[in-house]
Amino acid sequence: MPTIDPPLALLAELTHRCPLSCPYCSNPVELERASGELSGEEWRRVLREAAALGVLQVHFSGGEPMVRRDLGAMIAEAASLGLYSNLITSGTLGGEREITAFAEAGLRHVQLSVQDHEPSNADRIAGLAGAFERKMKFAAAVRAAGLPLTLNIVVHRQNLDGVAAMIDMAEALGARRVEIAHVQYYAWALENRAALLPSRAQLDAATRVVEAARERLKGVLAIDYVVPDYYGVRPKSCMNGWGRQFLNVMPSGTVVPCHAAETIPGIDFPSVRDASLADIWYRSDAFNRFRGTDWMPEPCRGCDRREIDWGGCRCQALALTGDAARTDPVCALSPDHAVIEAALGDANAAPPPLVYRQFR
Ligand code: SF4
Ligand code: FES
Repeated sequence: MPTIDPPLALLAELTHRCPLSCPYCSNPVELERASGELSGEEWRRVLREAAALGVLQVHFSGGEPMVRRDLGAMIAEAASLGLYSNLITSGTLGGEREITAFAEAGLRHVQLSVQDHEPSNADRIAGLAGAFERKMKFAAAVRAAGLPLTLNIVVHRQNLDGVAAMIDMAEALGARRVEIAHVQYYAWALENRAALLPSRAQLDAATRVVEAARERLKGVLAIDYVVPDYYGVRPKSCMNGWGRQFLNVMPSGTVVPCHAAETIPGIDFPSVRDASLADIWYRSDAFNRFRGTDWMPEPCRGCDRREIDWGGCRCQALALTGDAARTDPVCALSPDHAVIEAALGDANAAPPPLVYRQFR
């Protein structure tokens, strides 16, 4: 059994409700209804347990966390516990009044999603007319409240050619950081993979733009760039390893090591309604199932990267091979790597239409 350190961060998924309907959403295909969500008091108890467990950061997320009217009280609770709190939002609900109140309650950082630099394409991808304009106003309100701003832009074949303008937009909005992240193909995003996966040429051109901008904007704007692992030869270290640093509490109170874990059959994910976070983190089968390296099959078991990438992503292995305990197929050493090669073939064909879902 590996040594288990306390978790670093809690992702509090307050709700699945959201005014947007992005086709790359990585939330589950089956979403939680408002009636099944944890109450504000339950969430505040979760925050107290998290702080006692050693968690340092809480990320309020969703869906859209601002649909919860009690978000301010949760931010205040996190601040009183000494937790660093970050709001991950679409910026389409509320504005200056709300963000100023959150800052006064102790919020420390805002991460705002934007779908493109070009308003009509951004609104088309978000599935909501006028969303881009609201986001621009929201970004200004965040800066006016004195909070540091990160723009989060998910990129794919339908917006990737505008990456230079996206970086200019982040700079003009006064963001300290922009995260340009290629779609990760789980859950709803996998349904749209053929419409979203860029070609190699498109990816290489965007990567060159990002590298040049990083040089030019050193000390002004930090640029995080998450490349699509389908084009790599080794997988990403998903969540920095299962049950090593992160825990997610879902809207219903179910606790998972990553946002897609509930798709894995045969694991009974515990709830904060039935067990303490400490019990769940240290002793549950769910968190111990893929912790460390004991669970690994070959080729991971004998590989010198097994404690670097931890065998890649369990949820991706499940989605692409039907078995979460296999090596992540994006690894070129995986016996299942051919499924990735086949998907890359689709990236050169004409894209099918995007498939949207609504959950408001
Ligand atoms: Fe990582 Fe396993 Fe591939 Fe080695 S074989 S690089 S541990 S996924
Ligand atoms: Fe679940 Fe990667 S998203 S392990």
